[in-house]
Amino acid sequence: MQTLYLVVACAIFILFLFPNTFCLADTNMKSGSQCSEADYSDSDSTFQTNLRSLLDSLVSNVVEHHGFYQNVVGEKANRVYGTVLCRGDISASNCSDCTLNSTREAPNDCPMRNDVTIWFRWCFLRYSNESFFGDMQQTGVTVTNETDFDEPSVVSEGLPFMSRVAAEAPDKSFMFHTAVLNTSKSGKRYGMAQCTRDINREDCRRCLDAQLLTFRTVIGNKRRWEIYGSNCFMWYNDYQFYSNGSTLLSGESFDTCLLF
Ligand SMILES: *[C@@H]1O[C@H](CO)[C@@H](O)[C@H](O)[C@H]1NC(C)=O
Ligand SMILES: *[C@@H]1O[C@H](CO)[C@@H](O)[C@H](O)[C@H]1NC(C)=O
Ligand SMILES: *[C@@H]1O[C@H](CO)[C@@H](O)[C@H](O)[C@H]1NC(C)=O
Ligand SMILES: *[C@@H]1O[C@H](CO)[C@@H](O)[C@H](O)[C@H]1NC(C)=O
Ligand SMILES: *[C@@H]1O[C@H](CO)[C@@H](O)[C@H](O)[C@H]1NC(C)=O
Ligand SMILES: *[C@@H]1O[C@H](CO)[C@@H](O)[C@H](O)[C@H]1NC(C)=O
Repeated sequence: MQTLYLVVACAIFILFLFPNTFCLADTNMKSGSQCSEADYSDSDSTFQTNLRSLLDSLVSNVVEHHGFYQNVVGEKANRVYGTVLCRGDISASNCSDCTLNSTREAPNDCPMRNDVTIWFRWCFLRYSNESFFGDMQQTGVTVTNETDFDEPSVVSEGLPFMSRVAAEAPDKSFMFHTAVLNTSKSGKRYGMAQCTRDINREDCRRCLDAQLLTFRTVIGNKRRWEIYGSNCFMWYNDYQFYSNGSTLLSGESFDTCLLF
């Protein structure tokens, strides 16, 4: 049975979550979306035009900005703010694809809404008519299989391990971190954490800590789980779901490709 748990700070959002299968391949899929109730009217074509141009700019700029890009388009009431973040381990081309797909799906999931968040496994997109840059929010959703318990001997090691991952991620240059736990009896567990880069390191730390605390009882005894927030994200699994080389963060992908 798949169960999704969520914590949403304010009640004006409608949340859609999708069944998430933990398949062995690290495939991309949509994990959920969140739509404001507030909308813009059909006649508000300027907002719509600005939104389209904002989404296009996120797609064109995200890779050269190492998987994180923010932009603002328009003036006054028609102004729209947008953020996209790709998971730090994915390739430049998959980041670009994921961003493109998210900009296509978000307006479909939340038609005419003016504050929209969409989570994919590989990327996160939010746009809004109100500024949210740098403003850390502790809202989040977790995706796990509620009957997929881990062995008791691992359970006591899993959360402390992820607390260490959460403590180390804010100090990494891109606020992205992966780590491996060698359990004493049951193989390895893999952890990953990431923050959006518009918040500072201290907020990144507070965001990750808060997610772990909020979802402690839900994830504490599970073998695999994911937490998606507005500013921070965490993944935990029993196989290495992330790739080793981070071409997106090193920015060497294009040069390397041209050599072959
Ligand atoms: C954003 O849109 C909502 C709903 O239409 C509106 O109440 C709010 O005032 C808008 N914010 C700004 C900054 O225009
Ligand atoms: C993009 O993702 C697919 C599907 O997981 C993977 O097979 C492919 O190698 C990735 N592309 C690159 C360039 O890493
Ligand atoms: C983007 O969407 C296309 C078409 O649905 C799909 O084939 C592709 O795998 C998706 N790419 C990513 C990275 O999600
Ligand atoms: C959830 O976990 C249980 C126990 O490991 C497993 O039997 C079941 O197939 C899982 N469900 C899904 C949808 O993956
Ligand atoms: C985990 O085990 C591997 C060898 O299996 C070793 O290389 C690595 O350093 C160990 N990691 C920790 C944190 O102990
Ligand atoms: C990543 O690197 C580690 C250690 O170098 C290796 O054991 C592992 O198989 C690699 N994983 C992938 C997915 O490339």
